Amino acid sequence: MRKLLASLLLLLTVTSSYAVEGMWIPTLLKRYNIEEMQKMGFKLTAEDIYDINHASMKDAVVLFGSGCTGEVISGEGLLITNHHCGFGQIQKHSSVAHDYLTNGFWAKNKAEELANPGLSVQFLVKMEEVTASILKGVSPEMSNDSTRKVIVANIEAVKKSYQDKNKYQVDVKPLFYGNQYFAYVYEVFRDVRLVGAPPVSIGKFGGDTDNWVWPRHTGDFSLFRIYAGKDNKPASYSPNNVPYHPKKFFPINMKGIREGDFTMVFGFPGSTQEYIPSPAIRLIIEKSNPNKVDARTIKLGILEKQMAKDPKVMIQYASKYAGTSNAWKKWQGETKGLIRLHAIERKQKEEQAFASWVNQDGSRIQKYGTILGDFNKLYSELSDIQIAYDLYNESVARGSDIFGLISRFDLMVQSISDTAKFNKLKPALEAWLPGYLKDYDQATDQLVLPALLKIYVERVDPKHLPGRLNSLKSDLMNPNFLQSAYQKSIFSDSLKIKSLIAGFDAKAARKLKKDGLYELYTTISGHYAKNIEPKYLKLTQDILKVQKLYMAAILEMKADQRLMADANLTLRVAYGKVEGFEPMDGAYYEYFTTLKGIMEKEDPKIADYYVPEGLKRLYLSKDYGPYANSTGEVPVAFCASNHTTGGNSGSPVLNANGELIGVNFDRCWEGTMSDILFDPERCRNIALDIRYALFIIDKFAGAGYLLKEMNLIQ
Ligand code: ARG
Ligand code: GLU
Repeated sequence: MRKLLASLLLLLTVTSSYAVEGMWIPTLLKRYNIEEMQKMGFKLTAEDIYDINHASMKDAVVLFGSGCTGEVISGEGLLITNHHCGFGQIQKHSSVAHDYLTNGFWAKNKAEELANPGLSVQFLVKMEEVTASILKGVSPEMSNDSTRKVIVANIEAVKKSYQDKNKYQVDVKPLFYGNQYFAYVYEVFRDVRLVGAPPVSIGKFGGDTDNWVWPRHTGDFSLFRIYAGKDNKPASYSPNNVPYHPKKFFPINMKGIREGDFTMVFGFPGSTQEYIPSPAIRLIIEKSNPNKVDARTIKLGILEKQMAKDPKVMIQYASKYAGTSNAWKKWQGETKGLIRLHAIERKQKEEQAFASWVNQDGSRIQKYGTILGDFNKLYSELSDIQIAYDLYNESVARGSDIFGLISRFDLMVQSISDTAKFNKLKPALEAWLPGYLKDYDQATDQLVLPALLKIYVERVDPKHLPGRLNSLKSDLMNPNFLQSAYQKSIFSDSLKIKSLIAGFDAKAARKLKKDGLYELYTTISGHYAKNIEPKYLKLTQDILKVQKLYMAAILEMKADQRLMADANLTLRVAYGKVEGFEPMDGAYYEYFTTLKGIMEKEDPKIADYYVPEGLKRLYLSKDYGPYANSTGEVPVAFCASNHTTGGNSGSPVLNANGELIGVNFDRCWEGTMSDILFDPERCRNIALDIRYALFIIDKFAGAGYLLKEMNLIQ
């Protein structure tokens, strides 16, 4: 029976996926999307989502920090976002005595909420198209440089033209590769306090093992509160500030979700590349992703071994490991997905259709006739520069700890005669150093650096390498090769580093040149800055110019079609349905997970699968309060077919009535190619079920008082 039901379900869902590609512009919903959204079940209007005359949903969504989304869920400025978005703040407030990462944190009243200098949230006041003003004075014959100059000047003028410029922050950003421009006016709040966070064993349950993977059981949320001056306007931190009263906050729907329900995600997706041509995709699949992945595989392998050996290293490298593995895992999923979709062949077909459209008309041939040929030529020139660029980034710029430290000293050396710059760099380095030293393990770093340099010299064409590295090739085969350089280096002795900064001057700078590791770093970085970077920048800019023209042509060719603009870290609407998917032949993934699954994954031997006692007790006593689903389980996460990307973390997932049902936090691995090519059958966003957050706040943390300020629909 179950089998029959499952296959019926499969038929129903797989053959009729409801996914809609695109992250849509709120001011254009009326023109392009609202009708379709309503057909799919949405019960509200475009004005309910975005309106500048009345409170609308946009007034409850914020850009959280510099790359996440958050949403307001009470009349007193309470905000929910992901645990991984608030991670930096939670970590900064943590110490051995108050380990909020391990134990969680819950302010018992507003006085206990913790300030976070440097953190801001931004509300979009309004957005407007300003293409004509920005492109005034630009013509196709102009060089890259003069085009850029005119545009930069126009952007400044447009920004100035918005009154209240001191009250608001104005951004102007390109869409469709600069064929359109929009201005965005934001109200920025800088007093944002930490209200609550579950322990990592809930907020990061599954850790890097489950990252990017469905089925998922991560309680990925944290709570903050926005504070304002007495006039309800932004104010810098003050104990006298009061909770912000938002124009709008999201009601929370606890009634639960069903497969097929309408969902929308309203947030700040960072970037996508849906219009790149086939040679670009080939470069990603064949060169860029594999090289970056292989370099990181080497690094992660070393970190893993070292971390397993020593609990101190485990803590020191936890966050570096997570940071390195996040994109590493995504790139692998992306490559697989692109291959599975035959992305290159698909784009080639589109390009053939494009070519025949161009060839239909003499003026088109004149304007657009060289695009595809230019792409091919430029991407083939880019190919080995791209390898050098990618592997420099992975192996040298962000590979080892010690090169990171040395690069900061090198910046000081280079600005030794620029007093103003130098005087900024020095205190910045002093402030950064303690954190660096706290998380530095020489034995580990000493293995990482030669291993990464080895792949660098093996993969990069010798003509793009400094001669000195070429001659080190055989030495790098020896993992202990740099041992004595490390031992003799100033940069592996914390006392020497500190006194070096304290008395840093031209003489100290000259002496640095005798340090073997410094010398090695500057040889490689100097060669890169002189020989690789300029070529890379020139080629990528030339490519962008062709891409802009290609985009213009596509907009012309498909003038009667609805085209999505690539994400650009501005407010967008994605919509789809709650739905599972078929990840591979023979398997079907259900659309939701429950607490039961957390207990199934529990493994005291694996840190990622540690389950806190309090949660186990709740599970055993079935003390679920009003948070269980219709079958008596506590829901944890669900997946849906909304087109999302990085930056959508923390975004509200809303139902047909605009009520909060979840908080977005990831995508499924089989769908990670959606930044380049969206597959409605397999691309799913992953959201925390809002009932799990409420359950954790109330039942696990005993912070149920926070629920009183929310508008809960039961
Ligand atoms: N994959 C998600 C994103 O791209 C979550 C990353 C944080 N979680 C982790 N285990 N590293 O941001
Ligand atoms: N975790 C991502 C973020 O921080 C969202 C996942 C995605 O890339 O879709 O924004």
